[in-house]
Amino acid sequence: MPIAGRSELIVMLLGTQRINEQGHLEIGGCDAVYLAERFGTPLYVMDEQAIRAKCRALKQAFLSRYPHTEICYAGKAFITTAMCRIIQQEGLGLDVASGGELYTALKAGFPPAKIVFHGNFKSDSELRAALDNRVGLIVVDSLWELECLGQLLKRTGGEARILIRCTPGIDPHTHKRIKTGQEDSKFGLGVKNGQALEAIRLALNTPGITFRGIHCHIGSQLLHLHSYEEAIKVMVTFMARIREETGVTPDVLNVGGGLGIRYLPEHVAPTPDDLATHITETLIHRLKRHNLEPPLLAIEPGRAIIGEAGTTLYRVGPVKDVHIKKAPGRRTYVAIDGGMSDNPRPQLYDARYSCMLANRVSGTERQLVTIAGKHCETDILIWDTEILRPVPGDILAVLSTGAYNYAMASNYNRLPRPAVVLVNNGEADLIVERESLDDLVRQDRIPPRLAG
Ligand code: LLP
Repeated sequence: MPIAGRSELIVMLLGTQRINEQGHLEIGGCDAVYLAERFGTPLYVMDEQAIRAKCRALKQAFLSRYPHTEICYAGKAFITTAMCRIIQQEGLGLDVASGGELYTALKAGFPPAKIVFHGNFKSDSELRAALDNRVGLIVVDSLWELECLGQLLKRTGGEARILIRCTPGIDPHTHKRIKTGQEDSKFGLGVKNGQALEAIRLALNTPGITFRGIHCHIGSQLLHLHSYEEAIKVMVTFMARIREETGVTPDVLNVGGGLGIRYLPEHVAPTPDDLATHITETLIHRLKRHNLEPPLLAIEPGRAIIGEAGTTLYRVGPVKDVHIKKAPGRRTYVAIDGGMSDNPRPQLYDARYSCMLANRVSGTERQLVTIAGKHCETDILIWDTEILRPVPGDILAVLSTGAYNYAMASNYNRLPRPAVVLVNNGEADLIVERESLDDLVRQDRIPPRLAG
């Protein structure tokens, strides 16, 4: 319903986004309406300059404070061969979480030595792929994995450089489904219960395995940094304990990813400088206290690099008014041509997003609407948001969809997955083609007994 008052609607703009002379949203110098027409909708639009700027800001922030830092982009947030190229060109390492992500990186020609391989259940073939391709580090998540790795190395020879993934026992205050640093977690080995130390002892006694250091990842979309400080305190104290108990000092400390981003105008996300200050100051202080040599510090941001650089464009369909008991007595449902198949995050994590009409960004005719997907579900993408009064055929832009949207997309209701376009300086290049209807049935088989 129309909102009382006719003040100008203020929208959040990120990266290179601006409003052009036609009053359209522009990203990377490309008119979003033109992009929607040329490539179709739904469409993921990735802002190359914004991605590169985040990589550079993180590098600058850490290297200026602690030169012995390695920044590894967490590919799980968004990985394609083109993205691997950008990450390589920016001089970052790459964290992969499966054989499929590893394969993508290798196909893109990403240097294996700069790859860190993760996962709480790496299959034999994934471990073999990591060893055959000599990835830089394998982050071991369980005692069982350590045994598998030991047996594999006995059969095939070679060397595995490893980190032990630890759970420091920290509650990072984020959505329960993206917390990982607490003791009650499927990930890693407990620092407090002695499992992590047991794994390190086993690693040190397994031929072919080189123990390089320890890793933790406490959670995702963190908007407060004090949990990092707590985690670093636990991890550095643990480094000293490892030295005491084994005589070996870990030379890598990886503190994972997790830095939050702006999804809504009111979100205040810590900057790369804030993150680097918190992490490096705590680290340096704690190292001194325990008289430890500075290790290689590694961080693994995913969302912070790619999240705000992504925008999803949808075509608006039916707009429906429904009477409700609650004030204001009416809800306006705006259907769009995608939904939980291209963005499952509202359903999974109660994630909230900001949106605008890309073909009419500014104006005064505001309306409170609810954006609904097209699935056979109540797949509400955004509840009660204010945009200009939408009509069928408009283009809706949903912001900050770069992380864990394309990466988690599905074919629910047999919707083909959208294309991904990379924009920069007025150029737009397809980096992932839209799936076709034929793609949807390509893997289907009809057994002979169903023939005829
Ligand atoms: N390193 C490790 C070991 C991780 O498990 C993760 C994320 C990261 C780094 C990167 O975290 P980031 O900087 O992106 O927060 N699907 C969920 C997020 C799951 C994150 C899992 N691990 C979402 O859509 O919010």
